[in-house]
Order: sequence, then C-alpha cells, then structure tokens
Amino acid sequence: MNISGISIRKLAEKYGTPLYVYDFKKIRYNAQRLKATFKSDGVNVDFYYAMKANCHPEILKIFIEEGYGMDCVSPGELQLALFAGVKAGHILYTGNYESPVDLQAAYNAGAKINLDDISSLDRLLKVGKPELITYRINPGKGRGKYEQITTGGDKAKFGVPYEKAVIAYKNAMDAGITRFGAHMMTGSGVLDEDHFPYMLELFMNELGEIKKELGINFEFIDMGGGFGIPYFGDDKTLDVETVAKETMKVFQQKVKELDLGNPTLALEPGRFLVGDAGLMISRVTGIKKGYRTFVGIDAGFNTLIRSALYGAQHPIVVDGKEDLETSMIVDICGQICENTDIFTKDRAMPETEEGDLLVFTQAGAYGSVMAMPYNLRYRPAEVAIANGEAKLITRRETFDDYISRFQTL
Ligand SMILES: Cc1ncc(COP(=O)(O)O)c(C=O)c1O
Repeated sequence: MNISGISIRKLAEKYGTPLYVYDFKKIRYNAQRLKATFKSDGVNVDFYYAMKANCHPEILKIFIEEGYGMDCVSPGELQLALFAGVKAGHILYTGNYESPVDLQAAYNAGAKINLDDISSLDRLLKVGKPELITYRINPGKGRGKYEQITTGGDKAKFGVPYEKAVIAYKNAMDAGITRFGAHMMTGSGVLDEDHFPYMLELFMNELGEIKKELGINFEFIDMGGGFGIPYFGDDKTLDVETVAKETMKVFQQKVKELDLGNPTLALEPGRFLVGDAGLMISRVTGIKKGYRTFVGIDAGFNTLIRSALYGAQHPIVVDGKEDLETSMIVDICGQICENTDIFTKDRAMPETEEGDLLVFTQAGAYGSVMAMPYNLRYRPAEVAIANGEAKLITRRETFDDYISRFQTL
C-alpha cells in the first residue's frame, strides 16, 4: 500500500509506528473543491476551517493560502491560528460555557465572537463591547453520525435554545451592539444531502421571526460544518455538489421571502476537508487466541480515540495483504490498560501476523489532535507527503517533553 506514491512500509521503517501521514495535495484539493462547489453568482460564501479537526500549523497554512478563515474554540486555538498567519478579521470564535479568560482572548484577537448562551453576553460585556456578535442558536433539531456528535436538538449542550434567541439578540441591542450574525452547528459526520437544506430552511425561518421582532439584518448566516465522509460498512459518499446546490437555493429563496437583507452564507467544515487525507499506521505487537481472537497493535485510544469515544469504525488495511481473502474474525485493540481500548470487534481480516502493519484510513480528522500520553505512551509522530516527498512535521513525543512540565517541590 502507498500514500501519494510513497510506500507505507518505508514510512513505518523510517519514522516508526504509530504514525500519522497526510497527503497535503489532497488537503489542498479538498479546500479548493469545496470552494468551487459553493461558488455561485447569487450567494457570497465565507469559509472558515474548523481547526479542531486537525490544527497542525502546516495544515492551517494550506487553508489560509486557499482563502479560508479559522473557526476557533479556545484561546489556544486562537493563538495557533494567529501564529499560523490568519488575519484577525478572519477568525470566528465559537466557545461553549465561555470563561472571562476565553472571551478576553477572543476579544483581543479581534475575532467574530459567537456566543453560546444568553448568559454569555454579560461575561463578554465585562471584557469589552465588540461592534458585532453572533449567537450559536440551537434550532431544536440536530443530526450526527453518532449521538455523541449530534450537536443540535434538545439533548445537546450547545447553543441558545431557539425560544430564547429573540431575547438574546434584544439584550445585545440594548447593550449597544449594532452588527449581528447568526450561527448553528447541529451535527457532525452527516452523509444525508437533504439534512443541510432542511436544517437551513428551519433555521432561516427562525431568523425571519427574529428579524420581524427586532428588525435585525444579519450580516452572515453560518450553517456550521458537519459534512461527513465515508468511513466503513455501508457509509456512502456525501454528494457535496447536491448539498451546495440545494442549500444555496434555500438560502436565496429564504433571504428574499423573509426579507433578510444581504447576508453572507458562512460554512465551517472540518472533517470533510482533512478526514480522507490522513491515515494512521500501526504495527501488530501480539495476537491472542483466548475467549476471542485479539489483534493487539502499538496504537491505542491514546493515538486515535474515535472508536473508544463514539464507537467509530475506520477502514483497517493490512499492508501488503490488500488482495487476500479474509480468513479471521478478530477484535483489534491497543495496549492501553483499559478494557475500552478496542478499535473494532468481530472484524473480518486476512491472515494477520505479528509485525504486520495495520493502516487506519480516513484518519486525518479528529485523530492526532485528540492523541494523549496516557499510560505514558507518548504522542505519535506526523509526516506530510508534499511535492512528492515525505517530511516529518511533528516529531514523536519523548520522555523529556513529558517531564519538562513538572517542577520539584
Ligand atoms: C462549532 C463547530 N463548527 C464546526 C465544526 C466542524 O464540524 P465537522 O468536522 O463535522 O465539519 C464543529 C465540530 O464539532 C463545531 O462544533
């Protein structure tokens, strides 16, 4: 197997395992393709990369070069976005349960601040009064690939419930804020094209009510991210062209019908832009034939937590055995001392042996960013394939990195 013409085996030999590898050409292609797909004469679209999906500074640079702003969720992300070179006016800050320190950082960075609750405004006003704010509105519905990543609806911890949105904006107007946006983000990993125009219509109807009550002309309407990628089993590919066509149709119709002025449509995708451009290489360390057959590998939830966190399933390829028939049913697990350190159960695999390389594809999003040194298994290295060459972009974490934070009594 190879990635962008470079052999997986050679990468593993040179850089060790577990290892994340990214195809930078693919990331740039994804960035350009999405922009081209949402190009329309009738709608101005602003793109913010949800850097939580993968915030390596070299990856952020690609998005900045391609004209993306950044969607940030913490002071650390703000700092990194500015470090990578994004312009202050191109940052959207969407926190949740924002502390005064968070809000101060967003205010100082000149970000467009997207408040998560009606109560957030008072905390913001103690820090400063921006000209423009936006609220994250929870429109009462949501949808995600897993319940854990369904970020809208009555079970989600995010956003201002729609019923309170009028009072939230009114409070901001009373405080002297004059410019507004509106935001929703209702779920991640969605593969159903109809979901996006459906949610946008619902949301814009709600914004129409707010406009009627308060006379606000929203400068932008942000429908979040959430575009899914196929991972495993019967996952299909999201037809993003249809999503773009249908959402922009709804957008234009609703702007006209509800007299919403001249807003920009904002998008903040993460997974769709980087997910399929990365993979994680691990090595089989032991095969246990016990009550079940376990294939143990040198990556665990400390390296890629999506399976332990949401039950997410990745395609897993045995390097060099891609064309072999499956002959074993196995559970694949890591070495962490937790019984939840399982990537998959009852997976049909070709004959797999100690020393084989297992490659987790579709691992570019929400992978390395969630890695942790639990059990003191240090965070993995990352390699970029750019201009036909492999280059180390993150060295493997070491004991010295780890110990450097501690102080003696
Ligand atoms: C506010 C916000 N915007 C954007 C995203 C990116 O979502 P996705 O990676 O599904 O596009 C998320 C993810 O949870 C989010 O919470």
